[in-house]
Amino acid sequence: MSEDLENTRQFLHRHHGGDGHRAAERTMTSHERNHDEGFWAFWRKHVSSESELHVVDLGCGPALFLKQLAMQHPEYRLTGIEVAPYMLARIEDKPDNLEIRIADLNAPGEEVFPMDSIDACLANMLIHELFQPMVLFQRLHHWIKPGGSLILTDNIRQPLEQFLRHRFPATDFSKDSLSPQDMNDSFRDYFEHNRYTADEFARLLELAGFEVTDQQRLKEGRATRIAARNT
Ligand SMILES: C[S@@+](CC[C@H](N)C(=O)[O-])C[C@H]1O[C@@H](n2cnc3c(N)ncnc32)[C@H](O)[C@@H]1O
Repeated sequence: MSEDLENTRQFLHRHHGGDGHRAAERTMTSHERNHDEGFWAFWRKHVSSESELHVVDLGCGPALFLKQLAMQHPEYRLTGIEVAPYMLARIEDKPDNLEIRIADLNAPGEEVFPMDSIDACLANMLIHELFQPMVLFQRLHHWIKPGGSLILTDNIRQPLEQFLRHRFPATDFSKDSLSPQDMNDSFRDYFEHNRYTADEFARLLELAGFEVTDQQRLKEGRATRIAARNT
């Protein structure tokens, strides 16, 4: 295994709270909430209704989204990309039209997909876990067909004091004593989960050759959902 892949895995294990098993469980229990009717309406609005699409889920976790899509569209070709072993271990009963590939999306090689070979891509809660998203965005511009779609959902930067109030709802910061360890962990989590503004996501996608066609606010403004069309 390359040193970079191992570094990414170590980073993710810590980012996921040091317990891969629990992180995979959490991803499975939050699946329905993250792929609710609002998500599917957005997906249907921005993804081609043609049959036989090639759809890719970036950071697919236990691949529940792709399995759902496989049931709805047995004629699709589906590919999931994932790197964390504890997520990969949850992908059981893989449908025939689903392929899982292990790759580090911080630095995916151009050869992972042929040029202009993907119709639609999903990146659900992946981008904040990457060290930087630009290499991936550039690769996607190369891999997605012109006119094809990228749907991206992620947390966005929120005011730090709002994050602290949400995390410690019963704490009066002017009086209560604070545990240094709790604060260290909180500030690290804040900067790892709240990295970009909604506008920065849109501008970075445009820099990489996408046209942003739709953007929604989610979770009372703490997350965004973006549809981008490849040019
Ligand atoms: C928050 S989870 C979301 C999983 C899934 N997309 C969902 O919505 O249920 C983010 C996923 O991206 C994967 N991931 C993060 N960084 C990655 C990287 N550099 N390469 C490949 N996968 C990555 C994680 O292992 C994790 O499974």
